[in-house]
Amino acid sequence: MNQDYQRIEQLLAKKIGLGPDKVGQRQLIKAVTTRQKACGINKVSDYLKRLQSSAQEFQELVEQLVIRETWFFRHRQAFSLLRHYVQTEWLPSHSHQTLRILSVPCSTGEEPYSIAMTLLNSPLTSQQFTVEGMDISHTALTVAKKGIYGKNSFRSHDQVDYKQFFQVEQNRYQITQSIRNQVKFSAKNLLSAWPLNYSPYDVIFCRHLLIYLDEVSRDRVLTILDRLLKEGGLLFVGAVETTLIKAPHFRFMSYPSAFAYQKFPIAKTEPLVTPLGNPKPYQRSPLKKRPSISVPKPPEKEIQLSSLEMAQQLANRGKLKEAAQCCQIHLQGHPIDAKGYLLLGEISQAQGNLEEAQRCFQKALYLQPNYRDALIHLVLLRESEGDVQGAAILKNRIQRLDNLQG
Ligand SMILES: C[S@@+](CC[C@H](N)C(=O)[O-])C[C@H]1O[C@@H](n2cnc3c(N)ncnc32)[C@H](O)[C@@H]1O
Repeated sequence: MNQDYQRIEQLLAKKIGLGPDKVGQRQLIKAVTTRQKACGINKVSDYLKRLQSSAQEFQELVEQLVIRETWFFRHRQAFSLLRHYVQTEWLPSHSHQTLRILSVPCSTGEEPYSIAMTLLNSPLTSQQFTVEGMDISHTALTVAKKGIYGKNSFRSHDQVDYKQFFQVEQNRYQITQSIRNQVKFSAKNLLSAWPLNYSPYDVIFCRHLLIYLDEVSRDRVLTILDRLLKEGGLLFVGAVETTLIKAPHFRFMSYPSAFAYQKFPIAKTEPLVTPLGNPKPYQRSPLKKRPSISVPKPPEKEIQLSSLEMAQQLANRGKLKEAAQCCQIHLQGHPIDAKGYLLLGEISQAQGNLEEAQRCFQKALYLQPNYRDALIHLVLLRESEGDVQGAAILKNRIQRLDNLQG
């Protein structure tokens, strides 16, 4: 790639954080060529000059490059956790306040609308919450504001009663006014400045953006998200992004496949200099204990749980050792149950036994070759081991699966 393309890459990294290795050379050349044609500019060097001087043209190029892939109730467990959190933790202590949720990037709107649908089916009234959707792409926001979707936006096959939230006409699904009233959309580059006195949110969904950013921008975004989130609030990320959250005051929530973190206060530190004048290494004091999310005890009539359901509930309550034992008992009776291996893998991962986790996810995939959740977990493990190539192969497999299902 010549120098002009490299400069364009640098500009994209600086302004929107897009990692040069995340776009792909072919994709970049295609996007630049399309824009050159639209502007009637022959030389890449001249197009670069236009890009440097015109914010509008820069936006047009961004529109060509961003990936707007999204669908309703993507990682549906995230929405179950949201409802559970609101019901058991947020509402009891904030009954007179408004729950504020941010979905950034929101792309074409399926994510913030899914949040609104979830909360309208919770004990909250419509006055008790607001959802804001932000994205850099004007094209995506135009679709979001219209709220009309096709089949491709419905890939999560769960028990959501879509009729309740859409007016359906042939293959067009129009979001009802009651849902649209709950969501406000605005254009925003997450990396741009946020006012110092900006009111923080109770919950932030920032899913499938961090993976596209270079390391510096990723750190910047994480610092911004930290500032934008209240203590005790939840941050949801994408499955493959869980390895990127490293701040110790963000604690991973043991709620399978929700991929969420809860923000705890950063504890006061000991003085950095001892009375004798010897510098001490920076240490965080133990974090204040806060109520952690747990699934409520099942009512009496549900006590006849299968061993796998029991294992899942124990895992949800953070009782990992017992959950693992229960899962192993289940697998003795059901040696070809891919779900059992997936759960045992998740439990092993939460216990820090990554080798066993890997073995379990592979076994699950062996038993059920198109098992998306197993593939996602393996991507995460490969990435955390620095096996970028191995992770990329698996991500392609997931992409092919999604295309097939879409
Ligand atoms: C794959 S979509 C994710 C949508 C949704 N959060 C989800 O998980 O389904 C990625 C979105 O990030 C947006 N985006 C990329 N860079 C951004 C930035 N710097 N600030 C805000 N949005 C950005 C793109 O326009 C695109 O709509």
